[in-house]
Amino acid sequence: MTASAAARPLMVLRDLSKRYDSSAGSLMALDGVNLEVLAGEFVAVVGKSGSGKSTLLNLASGIDTPSSGEVWIDGAAVHGMRQSELARWRGRHLGIVFQFFQLLPTLTVAENVMLPMDFCATYPARQRRARALALLAQLDIAAQADKLPSALSGGQQQRAAIARALANDAPIMVADEPTGNLDSDTTRQIMQLFADLAGQGKTVLMVTHERDFGPYFTRVVTLADGRIRAQGDGAAGIGRDDRTDQSANRVRHA
Ligand SMILES: Nc1ncnc2c1ncn2[C@@H]1O[C@H](COP(=O)(O)OP(=O)(O)O)[C@@H](O)[C@H]1O
Ligand SMILES: [Mg+2]
Repeated sequence: MTASAAARPLMVLRDLSKRYDSSAGSLMALDGVNLEVLAGEFVAVVGKSGSGKSTLLNLASGIDTPSSGEVWIDGAAVHGMRQSELARWRGRHLGIVFQFFQLLPTLTVAENVMLPMDFCATYPARQRRARALALLAQLDIAAQADKLPSALSGGQQQRAAIARALANDAPIMVADEPTGNLDSDTTRQIMQLFADLAGQGKTVLMVTHERDFGPYFTRVVTLADGRIRAQGDGAAGIGRDDRTDQSANRVRHA
């Protein structure tokens, strides 16, 4: 795909581990993961529930801090950043999309999309609303701009969340099961949107169980017990064993 256009690692995870300690004992949610993601790649992260997929994404995006190991993004040592600088840095470099959209319920859709621009001051204040409206139009939900998120369907809310993730034109999109709460037709549309973004040069790291979209992925990374069990190109598809119980129960088209 577009990986050859700029074959440099945009994201480097080095010996990355995350341990959770509790009264029940110690759990290695992630255990010595090494991964390089090239600019323009569309990487799917798969694995059973509890295998460490969300932990991997949260560490890679600086939402969570590793117990040990390093996260480098575009040459920056994310693992060494202070919380105060991390949030703004993240807002400029990563667009993050969640399974349950996580739009702010008291702000309109357009205001939600403007939020990252406001927070990072990436665009002059007077340009932010116009840019938000342009992104919403690009995602075919311009008519929803001045509504509250609760007035939108799930698919529309996820489009709004994707618009928000694109607000600062960050090079990397990180998405954790972005279609996990959507019906199959909407899933197809949202996955196509991500494929288009990757085609336009965004680097995408996505936890997903959407087997039909294997050919779109430049790489499929399979996690098991916090470790990378396998890596392959997308055309090989995602194995049945790699779905969570939840997604295994969902209707899907052949
Ligand atoms: N905040 C936490 N405290 C304790 N254990 C956690 C926490 N977050 C995740 N875990 C555990 O770490 C493992 C990996 O979790 P996670 O990365 O969410 O898996 P996945 O996204 O693949 O379902 C699981 O066993 C989970 O229960
Ligand atoms: Mg998860």
